[in-house]
Amino acid sequence: MRIAVALALCVALAACTKSSNAASAGASASAAAMKNPASASDGATVYLTDCSSCHQTSGQGVSGAFPPLAGNAVVTGNPVAVIAIVKDGLEGRVTVNNAAYSGIMPSWKGQISDDQIAAVISYIRSSWTNHAGGVSLAQVQSVK
Ligand code: HEC
Repeated sequence: MRIAVALALCVALAACTKSSNAASAGASASAAAMKNPASASDGATVYLTDCSSCHQTSGQGVSGAFPPLAGNAVVTGNPVAVIAIVKDGLEGRVTVNNAAYSGIMPSWKGQISDDQIAAVISYIRSSWTNHAGGVSLAQVQSVK
């Protein structure tokens, strides 16, 4: 009997933690990602540490060198494509808002955890003027 009560309490607590994470990932998160979105607030920390040196804290990038992530349709588009770019890096010509870039984006696979990748992508998709849904750890793991 006591065990049953303790178990019920655990389940209730776990549910609470999850729903507060969901709230911080942004109200506009898609239904699929709402199941278990990564925390966008953890993503802010990853972003400052690993991304802002190139893409800037404002998400505006550096003209001619690093593309903006704010107001970038790739960032707020298909989550699978964004996950693949962050995991594998990107090299070659890309055009963002009519400006061309041909730099080298490092690969983050193995450099930071899949959890951190999910969190930082949730952050960039819902920050500045971006309002796309977060991504979950499961989504990141499913993109090889
Ligand atoms: C050393 C500089 C550098 C760092 C650090 C960096 N990026 Fe990039 N990123 C780039 C460059 C350069 C490109 C464009 C690559 C090209 O021209 O092909 C890019 C492209 C991207 C794109 C694709 C944009 C598009 O329109 O196709 C995304 C998404 C992205 N970066 C996210 C991130 C995230 C998230 C991080 C941190 C985990 C990060 N970047 C860290 C340099 C960087």
